[in-house]
This record gives sequence, C-alpha cells and structure tokens, in this order.
Amino acid sequence: MADKIVIRTISEMKDYLLLNKGRSVGFVPTMGYLHDGHMSLVRKSVSESDITVVSIYVNPTQFGTGEDFDKYPQDIDRDLVLLFDSGVDAVFCPEHAEMYPKGFSTFVEAEKIGARYCGASRPGHFRGVATIVLKLVNIVMPKYMYMGEKDFQQIFILEQMLKDLNHGTIIVRCPIVRESDGLAMSSRNVYLSEAERKKALCLYDALLLSRNQISSIDEIKCKMSELIANNDGAVDYIAFVNENTFEEEDMINDDTRVLLAVRIGKTRLIDNMKCNKQEGQV
Ligand code: PAJ
Repeated sequence: MADKIVIRTISEMKDYLLLNKGRSVGFVPTMGYLHDGHMSLVRKSVSESDITVVSIYVNPTQFGTGEDFDKYPQDIDRDLVLLFDSGVDAVFCPEHAEMYPKGFSTFVEAEKIGARYCGASRPGHFRGVATIVLKLVNIVMPKYMYMGEKDFQQIFILEQMLKDLNHGTIIVRCPIVRESDGLAMSSRNVYLSEAERKKALCLYDALLLSRNQISSIDEIKCKMSELIANNDGAVDYIAFVNENTFEEEDMINDDTRVLLAVRIGKTRLIDNMKCNKQEGQV
C-alpha cells in the first residue's frame, strides 16, 4: 500500500507515478471544498483502481472577469482528511506558478458545444477547463478519470477533447449527488443565504417538470421558467439536448436531457436531469 502523500510539484508527481509503475491509476480532478458529490467520485475510483490520485486546484483560466475566482471557497485541511480517510493515495495540490509558469501560452479550444450554454454565458470557461484537464491527465496519466454528471456539458466537452487529441484516458461518468431535498451538491451552495437556499430548490423542481412529460418542449420550458421566476430565480438557459450528441431536441425521447443554469441572488447554479427516468437512475 502506497503512503498517503500530498504532492505539490509536477516532478514529484512523476516520481510518485514511477514508484507505482504497473498499478492502475484512477484520477479525480477537483477545485476542492469537497462535498459528498466529489466524494462519490473518489469512492468509485478507490474501489476500482489500484491507486487513486485526487487533484485540488482552483484553476484561474476557467473563471471570467468578475467571477468568483478570488473568493472560491477553500478548506484544504478538511479536504485532505476527507480524502485520506476515504483511501485516497495521493493528493496533487500544485501552485499557480507550477501549472501556469511564466511564458505559458498554449490553450485547448473547445469549439462548437464549448460555445453554447455555460460556454455562452461564461466565455472562455471551457477553454480554461479543457486546458487544465489536459495538463492534469498528461501529468497523472490515469487509466480512468472520474467526473460528475452535475457538470454534464463539461463531461461531454472533455470526452470529445480526449478523443480528438488521441488521449488514452477514459472518463467514468458518475451520477449527480443531491441534498436530501433535491438540491444538487455544489461547492458554490455555500454562497447562498438561508432564504436563497430555499429558493434554490426551484432548479430541481423545475427539472422534475420535464420528467415523463407528454407536453411539448416549449410548453415545459414555459412552466419551468414560471416556477423559477416565482422563486426569484433568473434563468440563464434551459436546454433540452440529446445527451449523446448535444443537439437540441424537438421532442423528448429516451436520450433527452434537460440542462439549466439559474441565478439565485448573485449565485449562478447549474443542474440537469434525464427526462425519461429509467429504473435506478437519479
Ligand atoms: P469541481 O466543481 O470541484 O468538481 C469536481 C468534480 O466533481 C467534477 O467532475 C464535478 O462534476 C463533480 N461534482 C461536483 N458536484 C457534484 C455532484 N453534486 N454530484 C456528482 N458529481 C459532482 O468541475 C470542476 O471542479 C473543474 O472544472 C475541474 C474539472 C476540476 C477543472 O478545473
């Protein structure tokens, strides 16, 4: 069994991997301030891989100007306890100078889908995500990378990137973990006041309106918008897409997923759901 270690540099990470050559590596990239959504990915990796590496890095290039990069919540000590208690072998916590040294100038552009939905309201976001994740998988070289369906568009873009750039890492999609009332767990939920936390439930309630529906997509969108407005939420987007192609759907079918982004006060929250619930799905 490998020691549980915190790694801060790329060369230390390479040395660590060399020492563990031949073992399968599962990887969970995160920005820290961990909750049970993150931990569900960690547990899956620990159960399926010889070694689990988790990264904690708040990536500046995926935040736009005026976004929450400077105040993104952090609690590294708590995160490390949670991770090592769950059987994680190594945690990679690089400094910014390590990931973006002076002169850094190469980025991965996620075209097409990367410009839609979250990409439209957060220009440059997926360019930052794709760039840091490619760097991380190049450093850690995992067999499997565990990612949450909470960020459905992110998974789709990263799967496309790994395929387009001939990277061998495979993404394991993990289901959304929710609070007991249905709110999707997110590090950003901590920004919500008590009153906003109650209103934030409108994302989940709105998504439920799309389940097993016979109404048209336009009708459902109207009902969802109304419910969100009644809870003082501001809709950023509501989209019904084919979950395999990300093309917009005209009618709900077995592959339709509804995605939404809503502002509650100053906090932007995202969530999504498969429209036709199958047995055992959340
Ligand atoms: P972060 O928001 O910290 O999320 C890390 C991983 O946890 C992502 O794969 C995300 O989808 C997953 N996750 C978050 N909330 C979840 C929930 N409620 N249920 C299931 N999984 C959940 O996503 C990022 O960080 C960054 O963009 C990153 C990929 C690390 C690149 O910087």
